[in-house]
Amino acid sequence: MSEKYTVERANDFIARQKATVTTTYKPTKHFSAEIGWINDPNGCVFFRGEYHLFYQFYPYDSVWGPMHWGHAKSRDLVNWEHLPVALAPDMPYDKDGCFSGSAIVRDDVLWLMYTGNIVTEDGSILQVQNMAYSEDGVTFTKIAENPVATGDCLPAELIATDFRDPKIFKKDSRYYAVVAAKHQEGVGTIVLLGSDDLRHWSFESIFLKGKPKQGIMWECPDYFVLDGKDILVMSPMRFERTAYDYRNLNSSVVMTGQVDWRSKTFVVEDVRELDHGHDFYAPQSLEDAQGRRIAIAWVHTWGRNFPPHDLGHRWAGSMTLPRQLKWQEGRVIQKVLPESLADLPILEIGQDIVEAGYLQLLIKQSVSLILGTEEDYLTFGYDEKEGVVYIDRSHLLKQPKGEETWDMSRRAVPIRAESLVIIIDHNTLEIFVNDGQESLTSAYYIEGSQRLRQA
Ligand code: FRU
Repeated sequence: MSEKYTVERANDFIARQKATVTTTYKPTKHFSAEIGWINDPNGCVFFRGEYHLFYQFYPYDSVWGPMHWGHAKSRDLVNWEHLPVALAPDMPYDKDGCFSGSAIVRDDVLWLMYTGNIVTEDGSILQVQNMAYSEDGVTFTKIAENPVATGDCLPAELIATDFRDPKIFKKDSRYYAVVAAKHQEGVGTIVLLGSDDLRHWSFESIFLKGKPKQGIMWECPDYFVLDGKDILVMSPMRFERTAYDYRNLNSSVVMTGQVDWRSKTFVVEDVRELDHGHDFYAPQSLEDAQGRRIAIAWVHTWGRNFPPHDLGHRWAGSMTLPRQLKWQEGRVIQKVLPESLADLPILEIGQDIVEAGYLQLLIKQSVSLILGTEEDYLTFGYDEKEGVVYIDRSHLLKQPKGEETWDMSRRAVPIRAESLVIIIDHNTLEIFVNDGQESLTSAYYIEGSQRLRQA
């Protein structure tokens, strides 16, 4: 008999156990769960004047386990209120995990679309798409029609064992979802599903099929329109690395182009890595009441150890600060939100960093900053000679180890830097270059006082 998971059991566990979490390395301004493991942001949506964030969640341990959906909301994208767990793997069609998905509001009802992970008796995996809804934005009902889409709807060239992470959107009067699916040829693929009523879904098209060097599976697709430009964001596994790009085994990519709505296919014009730090995966976006496109990503990635877990601190994983995506000069830029900066104290070089804050630097020449103690520190900055902004973890005592077989101590992005916004929050460093042209997000875990100084 497998273990029984319910929303009530999860909520009860969190209430009883959250005080036992060790918060030494926990960020204070970046979202993290009260206890347990988190990965992808899910169901990012603006509902009745509030931002909702759901996330992949295993409350019972600080490692990945049968996935629940954690839930939080915010009025201002700065302060988050934890809400009861939204989904637990308690049905035959999601019995081994409520995997990633998204949300949409219809007639003032909040709908979720997510993947049910099913391990069959012979050990093989099936992934199906399910729906749930909520009238109060807190408790969710899974619909009787589940699963609403299974691998049976896919063309034979796709593999039903990897069919996940629906991102739902509305176009004209019809609902669509972009969903990741593995191709027999071992490349990533995004399929398009369609529905008129959110309860009955059918296969529409292969929206985009990847090229061999673009990874073996594309996780967590997100499709949206930014100033008339069609954008597809996804997180490929094993995108072929170059000198500076896609150095993480699992990276996040932004493709820009145009959708041909007659054939329902995405025509790619440009492909870029979205963030050049060590820890950035599975971003998901929403549109708010002001029409802003705001994305949040998981600050960690697969196959890496997580020092607070190793130390028995009972938590793992956090989110980036929300960032606004904009279309500017032919590319997507990512801007830190003014409300995030307004909430953070300004930090100074030469200061001991005890709480989260930020600094803004105008760049005229190379600058190399050190954060930490004499023996345990992170370096980052701008190297004018090489023409890169970088984050270097090679002097940290706790160096997260991944599955990458190449040197991962430094990540860098080629750019002529004119300004940097640097956000520091205990275990998270986010750097925005030239007002969002590039970004780098990395986690770090430093013992003792964090002094910020110039090299
Ligand atoms: C991405 C991912 C998704 C999946 C989820 C499981 O990080 O692997 O593809 O739905 O995590 O937790």
